[in-house]
Amino acid sequence: MQDRPVSRLSTNRSRISHKVRYALRHPRRVLPHVRRASRDTWLRLRHRGGHVAYYRAVMASDTARSPEAAVGGGPSHDRWLAIGQMQFDYLREHGLRPQDRLLEIGCGNLRAGWRFIDHLEPGHYYGIDISPDILIEAKKTLVRYGLQHKLPYLTPVEDLTLDFLPDASFTVVHAHSVFSHSPLEVIDECLANIGRVLAPGGFFDFTYDRTETREHQVLGEDFYYRTETLTRLAARHGLVARFMDDWERLPHGQSKLRVTHAV
Ligand SMILES: C[S@@+](CC[C@H](N)C(=O)[O-])C[C@H]1O[C@@H](n2cnc3c(N)ncnc32)[C@H](O)[C@@H]1O
Repeated sequence: MQDRPVSRLSTNRSRISHKVRYALRHPRRVLPHVRRASRDTWLRLRHRGGHVAYYRAVMASDTARSPEAAVGGGPSHDRWLAIGQMQFDYLREHGLRPQDRLLEIGCGNLRAGWRFIDHLEPGHYYGIDISPDILIEAKKTLVRYGLQHKLPYLTPVEDLTLDFLPDASFTVVHAHSVFSHSPLEVIDECLANIGRVLAPGGFFDFTYDRTETREHQVLGEDFYYRTETLTRLAARHGLVARFMDDWERLPHGQSKLRVTHAV
């Protein structure tokens, strides 16, 4: 477990010394960062209902500017396509079949979702997201790729209790770049409930921003966790988490864990 550059894993981005060094190295990024920090402070003051309410407001603001940039990776359409392709190829190589039933948590504007929908049988894709704004964009992606006949479900959620979904119904659950924006209580809630909806033999893949130093967060938007924290949390909910070494070889900054029922 190491492939990411050591500097990436050992940097604490919340430290003042890091911020000063970073600003000196990238002076052009200072003003956009200050703007983002001010906007986030304003949104946090306006949306006091906890992290999800705040992050939903962040998504509304980002989506209004650029739906593709709102799901990460910058404003480039090619990058949007490439990151979706990477997620899809990975799951296909890990055996995703058209008969699988896939739940995508934090599906965004279907960057990977449209490829999953295309591959799966009709009605086998279920996407959920806390942001109604990005789900409206998801609908546009669906139309753009002519996937109406696949009848995917797209549902806004307020939390990750998953209480509206039936038991043991999903063979694959996927969350890309969602826990990298989630405080531990959100991840805990998800892991507490995922076992109920996960079919026997099914798996739940999620990415996270890995650190090997102190866990930290930046602007309440980006969260960095140690792998042991997440594997221990999964175990507390009767699940086993495995670090996916082959994902580390891909050109993506986050790491991936696969969670299954303990046998
Ligand atoms: C960086 S985007 C990634 C979207 C998509 N997974 C992709 O790879 O394109 C993160 C998405 O997760 C959603 N999200 C964040 N926290 C969530 C939560 N607790 N429950 C469901 N969705 C969440 C955001 O609204 C956003 O659409």
